Amino acid sequence: MWRTTAPRGEILFEVGEYRVRRVSEEDAPIIRKLGERCLEHLELHYGSPPDPGQMIRELLSDLPPRKTLVDKFGMGVFDGTQRLVGAIDVIRDYPEPREWYLGLLVLEPAHRNQGLGAALMDTLTEWLVRHGAAHLRLAVSEHNEAGQRFWARRGFEPVKQVIAEFGNKQSVFHVLRRALEVR
Ligand SMILES: CC(C)(COP(=O)(O)OP(=O)(O)OC[C@H]1O[C@@H](n2cnc3c(N)ncnc32)[C@H](O)[C@@H]1OP(=O)(O)O)[C@@H](O)C(=O)NCCC(=O)NCCS
Repeated sequence: MWRTTAPRGEILFEVGEYRVRRVSEEDAPIIRKLGERCLEHLELHYGSPPDPGQMIRELLSDLPPRKTLVDKFGMGVFDGTQRLVGAIDVIRDYPEPREWYLGLLVLEPAHRNQGLGAALMDTLTEWLVRHGAAHLRLAVSEHNEAGQRFWARRGFEPVKQVIAEFGNKQSVFHVLRRALEVR
């Protein structure tokens, strides 16, 4: 399998005028600002008051059990003016080899509902397949109805439900998965 060694900062893929590149500690201030524009999303998962710094941890340091930063790809979505408007986080080979885990996909509200999320997922899927992924797994909160619709439309199917606590909020999460043939 081809293992990626893409350094942080390198452009990974493009969707129209949008560019997706790995983010690093240097990007922490703009990631925090993105968090400030996505407080409703943070509150939905972590409870209140929402902490915009959580977006930094999600993109740069949060890891599932037994994984290291070597397998973490925190990505920023930049618009044509190079402004950070969204974020993606994927973990390689979790929970098992060739299955990747999408820990985060978020766009700031002004960029939602225009087809960008769908286009990003199509291109991310191509990128994942090129890097050896056969399946993609994610978890969507019971409180995130729009998110659940979005994933159902993209062919994700239920695996199980888990109860998880983040911040001061406990929620049921629907764990979803799909095989990654490029569409
Ligand atoms: C989830 C998310 C990334 C999807 O990205 P998006 O760009 O809004 O997604 P799309 O525009 O491709 O699709 C969303 C909806 O807009 C509709 N849509 C797509 N293109 C459209 C257009 N040109 N005009 C109007 N609506 C459009 C889609 O039909 C879809 O409708 P649905 O909700 O009934 O499924 C984004 O909404 C987001 O950041 N949400 C908050 C974070 C979140 O919930 N993340 C997922 C957690 S698991």
